[in-house]
Amino acid sequence: MSSDDKARIETLRAELHEHNYRYYVLDDPSIPDAEYDRLMAELRALEARHPEWVTPDSPTQRVGGAPLEGFATVEHRIPMLSLDNAFDEADVNAWYKRITDRLQTRDPLIFACEPKLDGMAISLRYENGAFVRAATRGDGTTGEDITSNVRTIHAVPLRLRSDRPPAVLEVRGEIIMPRAAFEALNERARARGEKVFVNPRNAAAGSLRQLDPRVAAERKLDVYVYALGEVEGWTVPDTHFDTLQALGELGFRINPHIRREEGVQGCLDYYREMGELRDQLPYDIDGVVYKVDRFDLQQKLGFVSRAPRWAIAHKFPAQEELTVLEDVDFQVGRTGKITPVARLRPVFVGGVTVSNATLHNMDEIRRLDVRIGDTVIVRRAGDVIPQVVSVVKERRPADARIIRMPEHCPECGSDIIQLEGEADARCSGGLFCPAQRKEAIKHFASRKAMDIEGLGDKLIETLVDKGLVETAADLYALKFEQLVSLERMGPKSAQNILDAIVASRETTLPRFIYALGIREVGEATARALAEHFRTLDAIETADRDALMQVPDVGPVVAGHVESFFRQPHNREILDKLLDAGIHWPDIEVAEPVAESPFLGKTVVLTGSLSQLTRDQARSLLQQAGAKVTGSVSAKTDLVVAGEKAGSKLAKAEQLGIPVMDENTFIDQIREAGLALPGT
Ligand code: IVH
Repeated sequence: MSSDDKARIETLRAELHEHNYRYYVLDDPSIPDAEYDRLMAELRALEARHPEWVTPDSPTQRVGGAPLEGFATVEHRIPMLSLDNAFDEADVNAWYKRITDRLQTRDPLIFACEPKLDGMAISLRYENGAFVRAATRGDGTTGEDITSNVRTIHAVPLRLRSDRPPAVLEVRGEIIMPRAAFEALNERARARGEKVFVNPRNAAAGSLRQLDPRVAAERKLDVYVYALGEVEGWTVPDTHFDTLQALGELGFRINPHIRREEGVQGCLDYYREMGELRDQLPYDIDGVVYKVDRFDLQQKLGFVSRAPRWAIAHKFPAQEELTVLEDVDFQVGRTGKITPVARLRPVFVGGVTVSNATLHNMDEIRRLDVRIGDTVIVRRAGDVIPQVVSVVKERRPADARIIRMPEHCPECGSDIIQLEGEADARCSGGLFCPAQRKEAIKHFASRKAMDIEGLGDKLIETLVDKGLVETAADLYALKFEQLVSLERMGPKSAQNILDAIVASRETTLPRFIYALGIREVGEATARALAEHFRTLDAIETADRDALMQVPDVGPVVAGHVESFFRQPHNREILDKLLDAGIHWPDIEVAEPVAESPFLGKTVVLTGSLSQLTRDQARSLLQQAGAKVTGSVSAKTDLVVAGEKAGSKLAKAEQLGIPVMDENTFIDQIREAGLALPGT
């Protein structure tokens, strides 16, 4: 057994050295963290069994990698520590018992609980109030001087807010790249055919390792501080939590989710709450950190090698995992767009089991150089759909198969075509293609369109497959007998669906336009068209120039709208829908007020409002002279954010667009002389 262990130790060390190098030196890891952690845990366990074989150069004996050429080295007089990990409640309980035993106390301990930010550790040094240096952690005692890059991060104060600043103040924290900035950076890279980053942490680290600070300056990086380093001439408070508040007053960014909790139960409650919040945060976190709050108790507890006994990281499920690409299917969308979809060996990632991921298009497949049979890294973070982010080439089997775009549509056999200059391939079958028909009907019935309750995706597929429905108009001719004859359909459900179909006939013009599924006409554009033209007739007969008078409608969208209504097939369906009795009230457009703070502004609404519905808020804004759009861009003047605002708020913060809360919004609406509904 023993000689087997020795061989395994050598293999693990070699592998970990290699991964360490790729991760820390090249910023280009080939395996996800979770796998790295497992290899490291295995090595630690073997070394614990054979302490005589532990050597100073084992990967377990150090925290980081060697500094790169080109950056000066920096000594950390107070070392930058690492954290021990807890993977479950048992680990947390065991840790709590260890520290209370050591402190010989039965009183519940107070902890500072913090999100564990998934970025890059940083030490910021201030002398007499001025920022003088930023250094990476490196191996904990020697890091790299990245001052000129860090200076470009706006959240890093260049001067402390104090009349009598400390002679020396070193703070430690984390540099992160918000998810929205990461997605935007990768999108730009993809459009240019350049290399993309695997996750926001690598993007942050890669940006900070740029020798040219102008590149770092373009990357939207952010920082939160969570610890002290060297201090001279400053009275440090008695607790960690109070220290963070004091650092906040000196001008540092402190994470708003940091909280004091009592005992192990308080920590576990915090863990659960942050776990629920995780997907909505604008940045990645990989767990939470519990820190004994009182510094005197921290001192008593001390350190073991590179990690303090008084703190522990309680990890969340990994957002990246390894799995095998078993196959690739080609899905046909509503407009015929063909999307390659990865069929994966099911894997638990980001808190759910994932068995499908998007591969975007053939360009992406070529860029990844991914083949069927490959071991791939899947990432699932926030509300973004799971992605295949890279391939572990070392694990490619000899019989891995190259992925090719089919020449014919897998659903209807029509030719697949790819137009010059377009990244996407399309099925040329149009509404002859059952896949496109199914998708068109699903869209028509969906909640934001005609909102036909009970008419789910599966049922629509069955109806099309059985030939009962060909177009959305056929829904209105469905008979009770036809529905009730379907498998697993009782008379009650059948009647409910028929009732919902009948009820959907009473709708609004914006919903109806949206339901038609015209290319690139989303909810906001449908509403803009309806409000501009007021009647379906006027939209149908408008030419391209007239269409382009509508806010947000450019030549491409105008072209799609015009050609939709020119097609005899579509006109036929439209007539049938109207014959079936679909109707809507006239559009009322209130006269805008003469003066208001919103006049001429482009505004985005996000999150949930407590005193108004979204529709009410939108119509008030329009009466106040604003243009309300659906997505945040450089053209947005203002974002009104309610509770639980997510990626739109993050994007606004990224772009430096003013954000208004609900109460201020309501005050200003009232000041403009407008009445709230129901008041
Ligand atoms: S405290 C003395 N607090 O996690 C303890 N670290 O796995 C020093 N990290 O190197 C670290 N969020 O880069 C601390 N709220 C937080 C953190 C945090 C993220 C990182 C940090 C550290 C690593 C250890």
